[in-house]
Amino acid sequence: MRTEPPKIDWDRLRELRDLFLQAEPITKPYWRSNRQLQDYDITLGERIGWKWEAVIREVKLRGWEPPSPSLTDLGCGTGVATRRMLRAFPGHFRKVTLWDHSESAVSYARQKIRHEFPEIRIVCAKAPPHPKGVVVVSHLLTELTDEAAATLLEQVADAQALLWVEPGTFETSRRLIEVREAIKDHFRIVAPCTHQQTCGLLAEGNETHWCHHFATAPRVAHQDPFWGHFRREMNLDVGPVAYSFLVMAKEAEGMEPGGSHLIGGPLRFPKYVRVLSCQAEDVRELVAGRKVNVYKDLKQAHTPALYQFELKKNRIVSGKRVD
Ligand SMILES: C[S@@+](CC[C@H](N)C(=O)[O-])C[C@H]1O[C@@H](n2cnc3c(N)ncnc32)[C@H](O)[C@@H]1O
Repeated sequence: MRTEPPKIDWDRLRELRDLFLQAEPITKPYWRSNRQLQDYDITLGERIGWKWEAVIREVKLRGWEPPSPSLTDLGCGTGVATRRMLRAFPGHFRKVTLWDHSESAVSYARQKIRHEFPEIRIVCAKAPPHPKGVVVVSHLLTELTDEAAATLLEQVADAQALLWVEPGTFETSRRLIEVREAIKDHFRIVAPCTHQQTCGLLAEGNETHWCHHFATAPRVAHQDPFWGHFRREMNLDVGPVAYSFLVMAKEAEGMEPGGSHLIGGPLRFPKYVRVLSCQAEDVRELVAGRKVNVYKDLKQAHTPALYQFELKKNRIVSGKRVD
Protein backbone atom coordinates (compact mmCIF):
# COMPACT_ATOMS: atom_id res chain seq x y z
CA MET A 1 0.00 0.00 0.00
CA ARG A 2 1.41 3.43 -0.97
CA THR A 3 1.52 5.98 1.82
CA GLU A 4 0.83 9.64 1.08
CA PRO A 5 4.03 11.74 1.10
CA PRO A 6 4.14 14.13 4.06
CA LYS A 7 2.68 17.57 3.29
CA ILE A 8 5.24 20.29 3.85
CA ASP A 9 4.83 24.05 4.05
CA TRP A 10 7.65 24.64 1.56
CA ASP A 11 7.45 28.45 1.76
CA ARG A 12 8.04 28.34 5.50
CA LEU A 13 10.83 25.82 5.07
CA ARG A 14 12.56 28.00 2.48
CA GLU A 15 12.26 30.97 4.85
CA LEU A 16 13.83 28.89 7.59
CA ARG A 17 16.69 27.81 5.35
CA ASP A 18 17.28 31.44 4.31
CA LEU A 19 17.48 32.33 7.98
CA PHE A 20 20.08 29.57 8.54
CA LEU A 21 22.12 30.83 5.59
CA GLN A 22 22.32 34.44 6.74
CA ALA A 23 25.75 35.51 7.86
CA GLU A 24 24.70 37.12 11.17
CA PRO A 25 24.15 35.14 14.37
CA ILE A 26 20.52 34.37 15.29
CA THR A 27 20.11 35.43 18.88
CA LYS A 28 16.37 34.83 19.43
CA PRO A 29 14.31 31.62 19.28
CA TYR A 30 12.66 31.29 15.86
CA TRP A 31 10.58 28.11 15.95
CA ARG A 32 6.97 29.17 15.43
CA SER A 33 4.94 25.97 15.59
CA ASN A 34 5.01 22.21 15.98
CA ARG A 35 4.21 21.97 12.28
CA GLN A 36 7.34 23.93 11.40
CA LEU A 37 9.45 21.71 13.68
CA GLN A 38 7.98 18.63 12.05
CA ASP A 39 8.60 19.93 8.52
CA TYR A 40 12.21 20.68 9.47
CA ASP A 41 12.65 17.32 11.16
CA ILE A 42 11.68 15.22 8.15
CA THR A 43 13.58 17.31 5.59
CA LEU A 44 16.56 19.45 6.62
CA GLY A 45 16.78 17.62 9.94
CA GLU A 46 16.81 14.25 8.17
CA ARG A 47 19.74 15.37 6.01
CA ILE A 48 21.56 16.34 9.21
CA GLY A 49 20.77 12.83 10.43
CA TRP A 50 22.73 11.41 7.46
CA LYS A 51 25.72 13.46 8.55
CA TRP A 52 25.42 12.06 12.08
CA GLU A 53 25.28 8.53 10.68
CA ALA A 54 28.54 9.18 8.80
CA VAL A 55 30.21 10.62 11.90
CA ILE A 56 29.04 7.76 14.10
CA ARG A 57 30.28 5.24 11.54
CA GLU A 58 33.68 6.93 11.67
CA VAL A 59 33.96 7.01 15.47
CA LYS A 60 32.92 3.37 15.66
CA LEU A 61 35.67 2.58 13.16
CA ARG A 62 38.10 4.16 15.60
CA GLY A 63 36.80 2.02 18.45
CA TRP A 64 34.99 4.83 20.29
CA GLU A 65 32.06 3.93 22.50
CA PRO A 66 30.04 6.24 24.74
CA PRO A 67 31.93 6.48 28.04
CA SER A 68 28.84 7.49 30.03
CA PRO A 69 25.13 6.57 30.15
CA SER A 70 24.25 10.25 30.12
CA LEU A 71 23.76 12.15 26.84
CA THR A 72 23.19 15.91 26.58
CA ASP A 73 22.06 17.70 23.40
CA LEU A 74 22.91 21.42 23.37
CA GLY A 75 20.79 23.43 20.92
CA CYS A 76 18.80 20.23 20.44
CA GLY A 77 16.21 21.56 17.95
CA THR A 78 14.06 18.53 17.12
CA GLY A 79 16.59 16.15 18.71
CA VAL A 80 18.01 14.70 15.48
CA ALA A 81 21.51 14.17 16.90
CA THR A 82 20.22 12.50 20.05
CA ARG A 83 17.98 10.10 18.17
CA ARG A 84 20.83 9.09 15.83
CA MET A 85 23.08 8.45 18.86
CA LEU A 86 20.43 6.41 20.67
CA ARG A 87 19.82 4.33 17.54
CA ALA A 88 23.53 3.77 16.95
CA PHE A 89 24.38 2.77 20.55
CA PRO A 90 21.39 0.78 21.78
CA GLY A 91 21.50 0.11 25.53
CA HIS A 92 24.39 2.55 26.15
CA PHE A 93 22.42 5.55 27.34
CA ARG A 94 19.96 5.77 30.24
CA LYS A 95 19.39 9.51 30.47
CA VAL A 96 19.08 12.30 27.91
CA THR A 97 19.21 16.00 28.78
CA LEU A 98 17.83 18.46 26.24
CA TRP A 99 18.76 22.12 26.10
CA ASP A 100 17.60 24.72 23.60
CA HIS A 101 16.62 28.35 24.12
CA SER A 102 13.38 27.50 22.31
CA GLU A 103 10.97 25.71 24.65
CA SER A 104 8.91 24.53 21.65
CA ALA A 105 11.98 22.77 20.25
CA VAL A 106 12.74 21.03 23.56
CA SER A 107 9.15 19.90 23.89
CA TYR A 108 9.06 18.57 20.30
CA ALA A 109 12.40 16.75 20.74
CA ARG A 110 11.20 15.22 24.02
CA GLN A 111 8.03 13.86 22.38
CA LYS A 112 9.96 12.32 19.48
CA ILE A 113 12.57 10.73 21.75
CA ARG A 114 9.94 9.43 24.18
CA HIS A 115 8.02 7.87 21.33
CA GLU A 116 11.04 6.07 19.84
CA PHE A 117 12.89 5.30 23.09
CA PRO A 118 10.34 4.99 25.91
CA GLU A 119 12.95 3.44 28.23
CA ILE A 120 15.15 6.57 28.26
CA ARG A 121 14.76 9.14 31.05
CA ILE A 122 14.47 12.61 29.52
CA VAL A 123 15.37 15.80 31.38
CA CYS A 124 14.45 19.16 29.83
CA ALA A 125 17.01 21.62 31.18
CA LYS A 126 15.65 24.99 32.32
CA ALA A 127 19.05 26.70 32.10
CA PRO A 128 22.22 25.98 30.10
CA PRO A 129 23.63 22.75 31.60
CA HIS A 130 27.32 21.91 32.22
CA PRO A 131 27.20 18.18 31.45
CA LYS A 132 29.74 15.60 32.56
CA GLY A 133 28.75 12.74 30.25
CA VAL A 134 28.52 12.65 26.46
CA VAL A 135 27.59 15.92 24.74
CA VAL A 136 26.27 16.39 21.21
CA VAL A 137 26.19 19.74 19.42
CA SER A 138 24.67 19.96 15.97
CA HIS A 139 24.32 22.91 13.62
CA LEU A 140 24.50 25.46 16.39
CA LEU A 141 27.75 27.35 15.82
CA THR A 142 26.46 29.41 12.89
CA GLU A 143 23.75 30.86 15.12
CA LEU A 144 26.07 31.97 17.92
CA THR A 145 27.87 35.23 18.50
CA ASP A 146 31.54 34.87 19.45
CA GLU A 147 30.58 35.48 23.10
CA ALA A 148 27.86 32.81 23.00
CA ALA A 149 30.30 30.37 21.37
CA ALA A 150 32.83 31.05 24.15
CA THR A 151 30.13 30.38 26.75
CA LEU A 152 29.28 27.12 24.99
CA LEU A 153 32.92 26.03 25.25
CA GLU A 154 32.78 26.65 29.02
CA GLN A 155 29.61 24.56 29.13
CA VAL A 156 31.25 21.54 27.47
CA ALA A 157 34.54 21.74 29.40
CA ASP A 158 33.65 18.95 31.85
CA ALA A 159 32.16 16.59 29.27
CA GLN A 160 33.68 13.13 29.01
CA ALA A 161 33.12 13.19 25.26
CA LEU A 162 31.97 15.76 22.77
CA LEU A 163 30.56 15.07 19.30
CA TRP A 164 30.04 18.20 17.27
CA VAL A 165 28.64 18.32 13.71
CA GLU A 166 28.22 21.46 11.60
CA PRO A 167 27.62 22.36 7.93
CA GLY A 168 30.59 21.73 5.63
CA THR A 169 31.05 25.37 4.65
CA PHE A 170 34.33 27.26 4.67
CA GLU A 171 33.25 29.65 7.47
CA THR A 172 31.84 26.99 9.76
CA SER A 173 34.73 24.63 9.29
CA ARG A 174 37.17 27.41 10.11
CA ARG A 175 35.18 28.25 13.27
CA LEU A 176 35.19 24.61 14.29
CA ILE A 177 38.96 24.55 13.83
CA GLU A 178 39.11 27.49 16.27
CA VAL A 179 37.05 25.42 18.71
CA ARG A 180 39.45 22.50 18.24
CA GLU A 181 42.47 24.66 19.00
CA ALA A 182 40.78 26.31 21.98
CA ILE A 183 39.92 23.06 23.78
CA LYS A 184 42.31 20.45 22.44
CA ASP A 185 44.59 20.55 25.49
CA HIS A 186 41.69 19.44 27.71
CA PHE A 187 40.59 16.53 25.49
CA ARG A 188 42.03 13.91 23.15
CA ILE A 189 40.91 14.34 19.57
CA VAL A 190 39.13 11.25 18.30
CA ALA A 191 38.13 12.43 14.80
CA PRO A 192 38.42 13.63 12.09
CA CYS A 193 42.11 14.25 12.85
CA THR A 194 44.43 11.26 13.00
CA HIS A 195 46.77 13.17 15.33
CA GLN A 196 46.81 15.65 18.24
CA GLN A 197 48.99 18.35 16.65
CA THR A 198 47.89 21.85 15.68
CA CYS A 199 45.46 21.68 12.76
CA GLY A 200 47.44 21.55 9.52
CA LEU A 201 44.92 23.81 7.82
CA LEU A 202 46.25 26.67 9.94
CA ALA A 203 49.64 26.37 8.23
CA GLU A 204 50.71 28.94 5.67
CA GLY A 205 49.54 28.00 2.21
CA ASN A 206 46.40 26.22 3.39
CA GLU A 207 44.27 29.32 3.92
CA THR A 208 41.85 28.49 1.11
CA HIS A 209 41.06 24.97 2.30
CA TRP A 210 38.54 23.90 4.89
CA CYS A 211 37.92 20.62 6.69
CA HIS A 212 34.77 19.11 5.24
CA HIS A 213 33.45 15.71 4.27
CA PHE A 214 30.45 14.30 2.45
CA ALA A 215 27.70 12.08 3.81
CA THR A 216 25.72 10.09 1.30
CA ALA A 217 21.95 9.93 1.40
CA PRO A 218 20.49 6.46 1.86
CA ARG A 219 19.67 4.84 -1.50
CA VAL A 220 15.95 4.93 -0.76
CA ALA A 221 16.04 8.73 -0.58
CA HIS A 222 17.13 8.85 -4.24
CA GLN A 223 14.16 6.72 -5.25
CA ASP A 224 11.53 8.29 -3.00
CA PRO A 225 9.26 10.85 -4.80
CA PHE A 226 9.14 12.85 -1.55
CA TRP A 227 12.84 13.65 -1.86
CA GLY A 228 12.28 14.54 -5.54
CA HIS A 229 9.79 17.15 -4.31
CA PHE A 230 12.31 18.30 -1.74
CA ARG A 231 14.94 18.77 -4.42
CA ARG A 232 12.63 20.85 -6.63
CA GLU A 233 11.05 22.90 -3.87
CA MET A 234 14.26 23.65 -1.96
CA ASN A 235 16.60 23.70 -4.95
CA LEU A 236 18.92 21.48 -2.95
CA ASP A 237 20.50 18.16 -3.77
CA VAL A 238 19.29 15.27 -1.70
CA GLY A 239 22.86 14.12 -1.17
CA PRO A 240 25.75 13.90 -0.68
CA VAL A 241 25.60 16.51 2.08
CA ALA A 242 28.72 18.37 3.21
CA TYR A 243 29.60 18.48 6.89
CA SER A 244 32.38 19.46 9.26
CA PHE A 245 32.81 17.69 12.55
CA LEU A 246 34.88 17.27 15.65
CA VAL A 247 34.87 14.43 18.16
CA MET A 248 36.83 14.77 21.39
CA ALA A 249 37.04 12.66 24.51
CA LYS A 250 38.78 12.88 27.88
CA GLU A 251 39.82 9.23 27.61
CA ALA A 252 40.73 8.18 24.09
CA GLU A 253 43.72 5.92 24.45
CA GLY A 254 44.29 3.66 21.45
CA MET A 255 41.84 5.52 19.22
CA GLU A 256 44.46 7.39 17.24
CA PRO A 257 44.74 5.51 13.97
CA GLY A 258 47.67 7.52 12.57
CA GLY A 259 47.75 7.68 8.80
CA SER A 260 45.81 10.11 6.68
CA HIS A 261 42.30 11.49 6.63
CA LEU A 262 41.16 12.89 3.31
CA ILE A 263 39.42 16.24 3.21
CA GLY A 264 36.60 17.13 0.80
CA GLY A 265 36.23 15.16 -2.43
CA PRO A 266 38.84 13.85 -4.89
CA LEU A 267 39.68 15.71 -8.09
CA ARG A 268 39.51 13.19 -10.91
CA PHE A 269 41.74 13.54 -13.95
CA PRO A 270 42.02 11.12 -16.90
CA LYS A 271 45.19 9.45 -15.63
CA TYR A 272 45.32 10.26 -11.94
CA VAL A 273 43.34 11.40 -8.96
CA ARG A 274 44.28 14.24 -6.61
CA VAL A 275 43.23 14.36 -2.96
CA LEU A 276 43.75 16.74 -0.06
CA SER A 277 45.23 14.66 2.71
CA CYS A 278 45.62 15.43 6.41
CA GLN A 279 48.26 13.66 8.52
CA ALA A 280 50.31 14.48 11.61
CA GLU A 281 53.00 16.30 9.61
CA ASP A 282 50.78 18.48 7.44
CA VAL A 283 47.79 18.91 5.15
CA ARG A 284 48.78 18.67 1.50
CA GLU A 285 47.69 17.51 -1.91
CA LEU A 286 48.65 14.00 -2.97
CA VAL A 287 48.25 12.31 -6.33
CA ALA A 288 47.71 8.68 -7.25
CA GLY A 289 48.12 7.30 -10.76
CA ARG A 290 45.89 4.62 -12.26
CA LYS A 291 48.25 1.78 -11.33
CA VAL A 292 48.21 2.55 -7.60
CA ASN A 293 46.26 -0.10 -5.67
CA VAL A 294 43.93 2.44 -3.97
CA TYR A 295 43.26 4.47 -7.13
CA LYS A 296 39.67 3.20 -7.51
CA ASP A 297 38.96 3.64 -3.82
CA LEU A 298 40.21 7.22 -3.95
CA LYS A 299 38.12 7.98 -7.02
CA GLN A 300 35.00 6.64 -5.37
CA ALA A 301 35.28 9.12 -2.50
CA HIS A 302 34.41 6.86 0.41
CA THR A 303 33.33 8.27 3.77
CA PRO A 304 35.13 8.03 6.08
CA ALA A 305 38.25 8.42 3.99
CA LEU A 306 40.90 7.07 6.35
CA TYR A 307 44.02 5.67 4.74
CA GLN A 308 47.50 4.39 5.45
CA PHE A 309 49.66 5.55 2.55
CA GLU A 310 53.14 4.78 1.37
CA LEU A 311 54.35 8.06 -0.15
CA LYS A 312 57.16 9.28 -2.36
CA LYS A 313 57.08 13.06 -2.00
CA ASN A 314 53.52 13.95 -3.05
CA ARG A 315 52.85 10.70 -4.87
CA ILE A 316 50.90 7.85 -3.33
CA VAL A 317 52.85 4.69 -4.10
CA SER A 318 50.44 2.34 -2.37
CA GLY A 319 47.77 2.51 0.29
CA LYS A 320 45.19 0.79 2.39
CA ARG A 321 41.79 2.12 3.34
CA VAL A 322 40.89 1.69 7.00
CA ASP A 323 37.33 0.32 7.07
C1 LIG B 1 19.77 24.83 13.07
S1 LIG B 1 19.01 24.36 14.53
C2 LIG B 1 19.75 22.76 14.74
C3 LIG B 1 18.92 21.90 15.62
C4 LIG B 1 19.48 20.52 15.87
N1 LIG B 1 20.64 20.58 16.76
C5 LIG B 1 19.81 19.83 14.57
O1 LIG B 1 20.98 19.57 14.29
O2 LIG B 1 18.87 19.54 13.81
C6 LIG B 1 19.80 25.29 15.83
C7 LIG B 1 19.13 25.13 17.17
O3 LIG B 1 19.91 25.80 18.15
C8 LIG B 1 19.07 26.53 19.00
N2 LIG B 1 19.84 27.66 19.57
C9 LIG B 1 20.37 28.70 18.89
N3 LIG B 1 21.05 29.51 19.72
C10 LIG B 1 20.97 28.95 20.95
C11 LIG B 1 21.47 29.32 22.24
N4 LIG B 1 22.21 30.42 22.41
N5 LIG B 1 21.18 28.51 23.29
C12 LIG B 1 20.44 27.40 23.12
N6 LIG B 1 19.93 27.01 21.93
C13 LIG B 1 20.20 27.77 20.85
C14 LIG B 1 17.91 26.96 18.12
O4 LIG B 1 16.75 27.28 18.86
C15 LIG B 1 17.73 25.74 17.23
O5 LIG B 1 16.83 24.83 17.78
